[in-house]
Parts: sequence; C-alpha cells; structure tokens
Amino acid sequence: MKTIQFACNHAPDFNQFDTLIVPVGQQGTLPSLASELPQYAALASLVHDLFESGDFLGKVAKTLLLVRPAGFDVQRILLVGMGDLATLSVKNTLSALKAAADALDHCGTVNALNACVLVNPNETNQAWSVQQNAQVFQKSFYDYAHESRGATPLKDPKLNTMTFTCEATAQNLAAVQQGQATALGMALTQELANMPSNFCTPSYLADTAVQLGNEYGFEVTILEREQMIEMGMGSFMAVAQGSHTPPKMICLSYKGSDAQTAPIALVGKGVTFDTGGISLKPGEAMDEMKYDMGGAATVLGVFKALGQLKPDLNVVGVIPATENMPSGNAIKPGDVVTSLSGQTIEILNTDAEGRLILCDALTYTQQTYHPAKIIDMATLTGACIIALGHHVSALMGNNQALVNDLLSAGLATYDRFWQMPLGEEWDEQLKSNFADMANIGGRPGGAITAAQFLARYTKDVPWAHLDIAGTAWVSGANKGATGRPVPALVQYLMQQARG
Ligand code: BES
Ligand code: MN
Ligand code: ZN
Repeated sequence: MKTIQFACNHAPDFNQFDTLIVPVGQQGTLPSLASELPQYAALASLVHDLFESGDFLGKVAKTLLLVRPAGFDVQRILLVGMGDLATLSVKNTLSALKAAADALDHCGTVNALNACVLVNPNETNQAWSVQQNAQVFQKSFYDYAHESRGATPLKDPKLNTMTFTCEATAQNLAAVQQGQATALGMALTQELANMPSNFCTPSYLADTAVQLGNEYGFEVTILEREQMIEMGMGSFMAVAQGSHTPPKMICLSYKGSDAQTAPIALVGKGVTFDTGGISLKPGEAMDEMKYDMGGAATVLGVFKALGQLKPDLNVVGVIPATENMPSGNAIKPGDVVTSLSGQTIEILNTDAEGRLILCDALTYTQQTYHPAKIIDMATLTGACIIALGHHVSALMGNNQALVNDLLSAGLATYDRFWQMPLGEEWDEQLKSNFADMANIGGRPGGAITAAQFLARYTKDVPWAHLDIAGTAWVSGANKGATGRPVPALVQYLMQQARG
C-alpha cells in the first residue's frame, strides 16, 4: 500500500500545498487557530459567509470541497464539519475524519497531492488528534487488492504528503507514527481476513509471518502437524484432523527490550474456514466463516505495526491455524481428547472449535515463552454478537489491572471493548460426565462460558480474552474486514512501552 509522508509544521507556507483541509464547527467557526497561521482571517470570513448563507453548517461529517477559492493560492479547500467544537467527541471526530478522507476521492477525480490539515495548536489532545488523522487518512488507501478478486483495485490514491499545523514535538511525531503504523497493520489484517479461504490457508498465514520476519527481523517458527501430534496437542489436532489442508502453529517473536524481560503474548484464533465440522453450520452466510481467522490476522497486523514502531518491549505472537471441516476423519460429538495441558475434553459440539485450538496454543505459549501477560483474540462465539452487537468487542480476564489497561486503550482509539463477567457459576456449565470438561456450556451466557473454558488454561498468568466475533468484519452491502482490534492493541502496547 502506498504510504503518505506526514509532517508537523506549526506555521507552514500555504503556497506549498494544493489542498487545505479545514475543520469547521457547527456555529460556522474555525477552531481557535493560532494567529500565526497565514490567511487565518480570510479563512474565518469564508467559513462565516458559508454559514450565513446556509451552504455549510459544520454538521458532523458533512464536507464541502471548494475548488480554486477566490483570494487563496491553494487549488482547493476541503471544509470538514466537526459539529459542536466545545463537546467534540471521539466518535464524531473519527466520523468527520473518515468523511474528509472520502471527500478526497481515491477513486480518481480529486488531484490532492500535497495537503495541509489545520490542527488547533492549543488543543490539549493535539497528539491524539494528529494520531487519528494519520490513521484515518492512511487507512483510507486500503482497497482489497488480492489477485483472487480478479480485477484491478478501484482505488488510486494520489495524496503524497500531509502536513499538520502543529509543533513537531517528539510527542506529536510519535503520535503521527503510531497512527500510520496502525493503519498499515490494519490493512494487513483486513487483506488477510478478506481473502477467500482457498487462498488464505494456514500455510498462507505462516508464509505471511515468515515474510514479516524477513522484513522486520522477527524470529518466526512454524510447527507442523506431525510435531504437534508428537507434542501432545490433542485438542488442536482433533479439530485439524478433519482437514486435508495442513494445520500450522505460527510463532513470532519481537525483541525490542532486554532478553530478561518476559514478553507480552498475543494469541489469535486462526480458523481459516469454519464449517462447524460434523456439527455442520446452516448454509446462510456461511461464506463469512472465512473471517474466522480474524484473531490470527490481528496478531499479524499488530506485528506489522510493531515492526514499524520498534517499541521498547518484548512481544510474542502465537497463532493456531487450521480449517474446521466435516470429513471421514473428522472428530464427532462425544469424542474425548487430551489437551497439551493434560486436561481432557468431551467435544459435545464440533462447532465450538475455537476454544479447542486456543487451549493448546495458550498452554504452548506459557510453556515456551513464560510470558508476563497473555491476551488472546478470537471470533469465538455467536453469543457475543447477541449480547453486545457489532460495536464493541467482549473483554474478559483474570486480572483487573490488565483488563482496565485494555479498556482505556480501546476508548482512546474508539476501538472499544466491554467487560463481561467471569466466575465459578458459569464455569460449572462446562461440567462433563466423561472428561474434565465439556467444550460447550449451553446457550445461557455463551460468550462467558467460552471464556471460562479458556480460563482453565490460563490460571497461572495474567490473561485477557477478546471475543471479536461482532467487530472483526461487517456484513451486508459493505461486507469486509474492519482491521479491529489492531488500533486498541497497538495503543495498549505503546502505552506499555512508555511505562
Ligand atoms: N466461529 C464461530 C463463532 C461465530 C459465529 C463468529 C458467527 C461470528 C459469527 C465459532 O466457532 C462457533 O461456531 N461458535 C459456536 C459455539 C457453540 C457451538 C457453543 C456458536 O457461537 O454458535
Ligand atoms: Mn465454530
Ligand atoms: Zn469458529
């Protein structure tokens, strides 16, 4: 993906730009910009006139593109409605920025090459603002471009440079960098998730990890079926036995801190297609089960961002990747398997496969890397969508400090999480007469009982679980991967690195 050159300059010469991007409040006012900005008075009176005439009211996410505006040297001015500037919410800011990016029309007609975005120099949340600007504009370049589409991409983004009118402080520059790296990570996550499962196989995910390793110097190890059977990953291998496509355990390690520091581990569900297995899913919208590797794609997207940002941290990524297929060799309801941890599982429903592959990955991660914390992410349950819908990911964990840090990272990036409870009352729903536990806990609290299952494999480490079933992709006319929860996780990790 083409990258934008970002810069911060608190008093740039406007002649060097072809496009000015100007946020406008709902009273037809500019943010209280520094007087040192050239043509401030002319801009303010232009915006005021447009408000008086009713042509531009500054409503949230409305835009107006002025071409060759009289009295200005720039080719075009893009006015962006921000709503009430006094109570500017995170949500409104982001939708306004998305509208601004859309208005630059990457499908071809607007030739904005060098843009300048007016940022209020007095804004207390200036770093946040430039971070979101960089993220939204860079992310707007993403277009599903894989050869499997059989057509050339629709987008042809022209923007080369974007300058923010604020001081080039270390904090602002770091924020811009984080926003851009987040967008590049999200684009990788989206691309992998959007690819059909006949292209995006476990081997393809493994190859992607190897490529990232070559590009950024991560250590990458891939475990094969025979090795994993040998090691005793009876639960993961039970899911994988129904598929001819070879399963992989994909491990990446980023070392940005000293060797003694225990890493933060990210574990992502990589079911490249979930048919349900013998407990076959109904046909409607089954194509969307290509997105069941959204957790895996998130881990790879976060690693892409880590490669760009190089924070002072150690991070490992572990991805159990397989298809979940019905076949003559597939696991059957009632089968009992032994997980790597030694705990036995009665598989009452082969469609609850995510927890079966994650439990072995969680045990393997602890045995191999002795992490300080584990965060897993998975498109784990339909029940999560019933409980929370599509706007927040479910968050559960055994350590409230870790949960709180993730909640605030989610709020800062508007990639939100909502905590759900854990407790022994729900854990009891996993009781089995034939093994240490069943792999399902019935319909009540389905997202919680799935997490309760994982909690049995993470007793000795601070652990958090993200159920991203409702947030990793959108259905309907705009069907596609969202790149979530890359923004919140990058924010969390950068916050950890800052200490
Ligand atoms: N990948 C699905 C969860 C899912 C379903 C995510 C729909 C997004 C949209 C998962 O493997 C699954 O099938 N879960 C079952 C669990 C049940 C059998 C206990 C579910 O949610 O129905
Ligand atoms: Mn399933
Ligand atoms: Zn699944």
